[in-house]
Amino acid sequence: MSEAAEELFPSRHPGWPASPGPLRVAAGTVALRPTRLRDASAWSALRLRDRAYLQRWEPTTTGDWRDRNAVLAWPAQWSALRGLARRGSALPFAITVDGRFAGQLTIGNVVRGALRSAWVGYWVAESRSGGGVATAAVALAVDHCFTRAALHRLEATVRPENAPSLRVLEKTGFRREGLFERYLDVEGDWRDHYVFGLTAEDHPEGAVAALVRERRADYA
Ligand code: ACO
Repeated sequence: MSEAAEELFPSRHPGWPASPGPLRVAAGTVALRPTRLRDASAWSALRLRDRAYLQRWEPTTTGDWRDRNAVLAWPAQWSALRGLARRGSALPFAITVDGRFAGQLTIGNVVRGALRSAWVGYWVAESRSGGGVATAAVALAVDHCFTRAALHRLEATVRPENAPSLRVLEKTGFRREGLFERYLDVEGDWRDHYVFGLTAEDHPEGAVAALVRERRADYA
């Protein structure tokens, strides 16, 4: 729904569907949009190729990586995400670079009422990494969550060893709030995670505007 349409017909789940961006960074022009059924082949190709790079950081799941990331596995995953979005508990975005599928950014566990909070998680294809894509994607999502999606707080949990992800959160203004010990089953064991938080008050000018001011990104 467009911003104008949202004003006329306020949604029960504000801020969805949405396509925040674009924003230009070293790697190209970054934007977010809802994941689509037809992302299957691009999603699967990247996930199968980048297995070693992704698996280290993702929750342990049953079954073989090739089966779970095959083209045929996407419709069920996409449909589950779409169901969560329709119920207002997630904003499942694809990250695109120059219009091509390059990863995912998910806003999950959206809780409204007096909390108005959610978590953010993301991955970017290895071939696109190191060029500011995740930083741009997180900044676009932060601004979207604190404006159109009417949230007040975002949370992210990261393993202390995940230097690139820690840097993404630092560049987008998240505060480290503590350590969750033995928090999540990753790569077959319970792993400690830092917890990071950000509230709307932390970014009075907006996360994208801060990146642009710091010359990390430019309006496309
Ligand atoms: N040590 C320190 N810094 C590093 C290292 C390293 N080994 N490797 C990269 N970096 C820095 C980069 O230099 C860059 O910082 P800079 O701009 O100051 O130079 C930063 O880390 C990465 O920033 P981006 O380029 O915006 O991020 P990118 O598009 O490369 O994506 C991401 C980062 C998403 C973590 C990617 O590496 C990835 O998908 N990894 C696998 C999955 C994953 O770890 N997802 C995050 C899980 S945690 C969560 O979702 C909250």
